[in-house]
Amino acid sequence: MAAVLDSVRAFFAPSTFTLDLENAGDVVARENLLDRAMGPDRRKKSSEKLRQGRVPSDGLALVARDRAGHVIGTVRLWNIEAGVDRETRPVEALLLGPLAIDPSYEGKGIGSALMRAAIMEAKKRGHGAILLVGDAPYYERFGFFASKTRHLVMPGPFQRDRFLALELKDGWLDSAAGMIVASGRKLAQPPISKAA
Ligand SMILES: CC(C)(COP(=O)(O)OP(=O)(O)OC[C@H]1O[C@@H](n2cnc3c(N)ncnc32)[C@H](O)[C@@H]1OP(=O)(O)O)[C@@H](O)C(=O)NCCC(=O)NCCS
Repeated sequence: MAAVLDSVRAFFAPSTFTLDLENAGDVVARENLLDRAMGPDRRKKSSEKLRQGRVPSDGLALVARDRAGHVIGTVRLWNIEAGVDRETRPVEALLLGPLAIDPSYEGKGIGSALMRAAIMEAKKRGHGAILLVGDAPYYERFGFFASKTRHLVMPGPFQRDRFLALELKDGWLDSAAGMIVASGRKLAQPPISKAA
């Protein structure tokens, strides 16, 4: 991971921000940032159903930090099954999101840097494809297109022209069809306290 982050840092104005793996101490700042950037309805999205109660894919929860180390950007990727292939075997893939940058840092290339780092790391880890629901005019620059998800559906309402994918391995989604299902590790549940 360090090599991927270093190469992206070197390309994108390293003096204004750094990229890092998210750690446990970043969770509150990340959630506050998501509330600011995306508003209160963010938890109602269909993508959220695939994230709830799961942990992100290994090594694929990234943050951008300002010079003082504060979280100013976040992106996470989640293990999913992108339907099944012709032999009805699950098609392993990743769901990206949410991606958000602190509003006071927008337009400085931080979102692009996080996207490129996440894509490079996912590829390095051997994943076959990344899916997301988002604005095509933004994500097409990273190679995401709606044509790759045409036989797939989200588990809830979604706009087909915003349901995009990038193949990290050629043809990975060629025969993928059906519903997206969460497949990541589950969050550890706190122990249930029993009444005496
Ligand atoms: C979308 C977002 C992640 C972009 O991050 P960023 O760091 O500002 O983006 P970058 O600086 O890397 O890129 C800026 C470019 O993206 C374009 N852009 C930003 N948001 C866009 C959108 N929704 N659709 C199309 N283009 C967009 C800008 O116009 C700019 O274009 P230019 O390079 O031609 O000038 C950020 O604005 C954000 O957090 N938005 C709120 C949360 C959100 O909507 N997230 C999901 C995005 S679908």
